[in-house]
Order: sequence, then C-alpha cells, then structure tokens
Amino acid sequence: MKTVLSGMRATSRLHLGNYFGAAANWLRMQEEYNCYFFVADLHALTTDHDPSALNHHAKTIFAHYLGLGLNPEKCTLYIQSDVPEIAELYLVLNMFANKGELEKTASFKEKARKKGQSLNAGLLTYPVLMAADILIHRADFVPVGKDQEQHLEMTRTFGNRFNHVYKTDLFPEPQAFAYSESLVKIFALDGSGQKMSKSDHNTNNTIFLTDSDDEIRKKLKKAKTDKGPQEKNSPFTQEIKGLFELMTGVSSPETLQAFMADYANCAIRYGDFKAQLATDVIDFIAPKREEILSWQSDEVRMKRIAQLGADKARESARKTLNAMRDVMGMHYFKD
Ligand code: ADP
Ligand code: TRP
Repeated sequence: MKTVLSGMRATSRLHLGNYFGAAANWLRMQEEYNCYFFVADLHALTTDHDPSALNHHAKTIFAHYLGLGLNPEKCTLYIQSDVPEIAELYLVLNMFANKGELEKTASFKEKARKKGQSLNAGLLTYPVLMAADILIHRADFVPVGKDQEQHLEMTRTFGNRFNHVYKTDLFPEPQAFAYSESLVKIFALDGSGQKMSKSDHNTNNTIFLTDSDDEIRKKLKKAKTDKGPQEKNSPFTQEIKGLFELMTGVSSPETLQAFMADYANCAIRYGDFKAQLATDVIDFIAPKREEILSWQSDEVRMKRIAQLGADKARESARKTLNAMRDVMGMHYFKD
C-alpha cells in the first residue's frame, strides 16, 4: 500500500484554503492509503518563539484534524516534535542541501523580504526539515496546496542526492497529490491574487473554519469585486475568479452554473452572488466548526490520540533511520 504524508504548521487556525488545498484530500486518502498526518510545530519555530502561543496553536491544529474527520483508527496523527527521529534525519539531509539553492527558495525569499534582518538558519533550511518529515516515512504521495510544489521538488532533490552518494534506493521520489486535476489555490478575499493565508495580517481576507456565521457574512460582504462584466463572455477578473473558486467548493453545481451564466450574460448582481456564497459557506463550515470546537475542549482524548500516533510514527521512523545508518556505515559494533 502506498504511503501518504502531510502536515500543517502550528500557527493560527485553519481556513478554507487549508481545507480545499490540503485537508479535503487527506480525508479521502485516509480511506485508501497508509497515511501519516502531523502538526508541524518545529516548523513554526522558524518564525515564532512564544511558548504559550505554540502550545495553543499545536493543540488547535490537532483539534482541527480530528474535527474535520481524520480518524486515528484509519491514519496516524501526531505532533512533529514528538518524533525526534525527524530531527536526526534533518541533520543528515542538511549535508545534501546547498546554501545557494536554499537561498533561492521562493518561501525563503518571501520571508526574507518581510522579516528584514532576523533571518535564522532554521528558516533557510525549512525545506530540509520538510524533506525529513516526508522521507522519514519514505512517503510516496504528499497532498498539499500549490504553494508547496517547490518544497516537494527540493525533497526529491535531497533524497536523490543521498541515494546517489550512498548508491542506494532508500528514499523514493514523493509526488504532490490532489484528487482534482491540478493543485488548488484559494485566493485572499481582497482580490490581490495572493493565496488565502493564516499569516495574512488582515484577517478579513481569510475565512477560518471556526469563524462565526456573522464573521463569515461580514467578510464576504466586504470581499472585493469589480465593476462587473461589460461585455458578454468576458474572462474573470482576479477578484471574481477568487469568489467563483470558493463557490466551486461550497455551493451546489446548479448554483454555480446559474451565477456563471449570469456573469457570462452580464446579468450578475454581485450583492446576490456574495449573499448566496455567504449562505453556502456558512452551511459548509457550521458543522465542521462545531466538531472542531468540541475536540478543542477535550484535551484528555487528544492527548491519548497524540501519544498513540507518536508511537506509531516513531516505529516507522526508526525503521528508516536504521536503514539509513546502515548504508552510511553508522552501525559500528555488532551485537
Ligand atoms: P498558511 O499559508 O495559511 O500558513 P500553511 O502554510 O500551514 O498555511 O499550509 C498548510 C497546507 O494548506 C499546505 O498544504 C498548503 O499548500 C495549503 N494551503 C494553504 N493556503 C492555501 C490556499 N490559499 N489555497 C490552497 N491551499 C492552501
Ligand atoms: N511547509 C508546509 C506548509 O507550509 C507544512 C509542512 C511541513 C509540510 N512539513 C511538511 C507539508 C511535510 C507536507 C509535508 O504548509
């Protein structure tokens, strides 16, 4: 059976982009594959150093996984730092990553632009830690959103270099995975063309899975539109493309078709369009929100699941490290 791995950083809360870009695929994949899903708390350390925030966010993201329907009986759910084997593999993989290529990574360049002076080595080697997350279980498929494609490419590069140097086929080439034709990107509500993100300083641009009905309605009311199509069959502007993308996820095909036809005929009224979208987003999110909040208040159950998940993940991780040490000549003395 193929192995699947994915994770999200322990920051903030999850939003519709995380759902459609990643979690929706995870839910289906747990039915067919050997799946590992984890909370990337060590990755959060590349930018945040507030202990109580980290603690809160890691538990919050874990509660989202469970609330959305990831089932610990079908997949392995854990917190990254509970599996120290990942850190060992990260150290070794660092020997196969070049400074130049790390500096050229899009996510690093973007952080460098935003954060100015305080660029630590952990931020530079973020893709190496991500490669360790994936290669530790020798994963075949990695369900992620479009923004992670480059990191996956780097994972393949590091694994291949290791394989080449040690003349082994220890690490497979993990592939990005989505059930849809292409990887999904959900846009921020300001029409800027940026992805919807947890770290957007303007929370009005992001619809979180725990937003109240009121917040959702307000955010969609404020969502940027344009002055409307002037000619029949005009292409979507960025603003409208983003909203239709959301509607594709949450509304019925009939509703979507009707508004698309209105747009094509220049008959669309954005007020109605956004009101319908708000209703459908609320119907979509409300049951998920209740489940997430209920898990969030049950730390005893979460603790048990996290412990079990860490045990299972460590067992798999140790197998990989054993094989790795073998090919590297790091088993020094016979029993
Ligand atoms: P964020 O960028 O909001 O902090 P993460 O980087 O933790 O979110 O992403 C977690 C997962 O969700 C990744 O697989 C990522 O590709 C996916 N993802 C995040 N934002 C979006 C989006 N707007 N559209 C599609 N997928 C997304
Ligand atoms: N870098 C990913 C993100 O920002 C999170 C992540 C860390 C991840 N390790 C991973 C995703 C391993 C998939 C596989 O979303």
